Amino acid sequence: MTAPPYVHGYSTREAARLANQANTLSGLLHHDTLYPPGARVLECGCGTGAQTVHLAANSPQARIVSIDLSPASVEQAKARVRAAGYGNVAFQVADLFNLPFDEGSFDHVFICFVLEHLPAPVEALRLLKRVLRPGGSITVIEGDHGSWYCHPQTLEASRTVQCLVEIQARLGGNSLIGRRLYPLLAEAGFRRACVSPRMVYVDASRPELVEGFSKNTFIAMVEGVRQQALSLGLIGEQVFDKGIADMYRATAPGGTFCYTFFKGMGTK
Ligand SMILES: C[S@@+](CC[C@H](N)C(=O)[O-])C[C@H]1O[C@@H](n2cnc3c(N)ncnc32)[C@H](O)[C@@H]1O
Repeated sequence: MTAPPYVHGYSTREAARLANQANTLSGLLHHDTLYPPGARVLECGCGTGAQTVHLAANSPQARIVSIDLSPASVEQAKARVRAAGYGNVAFQVADLFNLPFDEGSFDHVFICFVLEHLPAPVEALRLLKRVLRPGGSITVIEGDHGSWYCHPQTLEASRTVQCLVEIQARLGGNSLIGRRLYPLLAEAGFRRACVSPRMVYVDASRPELVEGFSKNTFIAMVEGVRQQALSLGLIGEQVFDKGIADMYRATAPGGTFCYTFFKGMGTK
């Protein structure tokens, strides 16, 4: 199975960025995801396992099955989880639009930073609902690039971030999907949908977030589309580079950075 191209790609740099993101934000995003002993959990779109290690750590007796479309990512995820010493995760290369599981196979589904890349997120949620048992839960985590702002903010920085939003949209995704989680869960037929915003606020008094989130997660992600943005003619080179430099300036003392993730839950 070959994974289709997607906005962030499958490079080593991107794998490191995803790991940084997961490790820096594990408290904010994972502290309330705890599955009981024996629970059958499907993690959909595990990538290189950046979130998988946190799932496995928080629910060491749950039986987790982690799938991804990319065979190379699944191999990396396997190695990461093995190196972290967790034995409660099985891996499989699989497409969420063609899930190799019977109806009702899982008690819980976890999906993080995947819907934003899909042209048909409601269909994806419906297919995931099928493999849940009645009463089972889904947990969805997404960002929303429209929720980003910083100080000092410049027009060039905003235009640079907008390039990522535009490129992802052209590839059929939606990087503003966080604000849509509740309607998506409701449209897919989940009951008791509930969404909580998780804001990351960074200033110089939080150096671990300056490095782990502002620089190595967010700016790294925007920098990653430089070539695509320039080749598509979305922006001039100088404006893009100034936008990135301005974002770095907002990570220096005197600057601040804000971004909101959204965590949604629903029941079948
Ligand atoms: C941004 S990565 C997120 C990976 C991981 N959840 C994390 O947060 O680090 C999105 C992942 O979704 C996977 N993906 C995209 N479409 C998929 C599909 N139809 N079925 C399974 N995985 C898919 C990609 O291969 C990629 O690894």
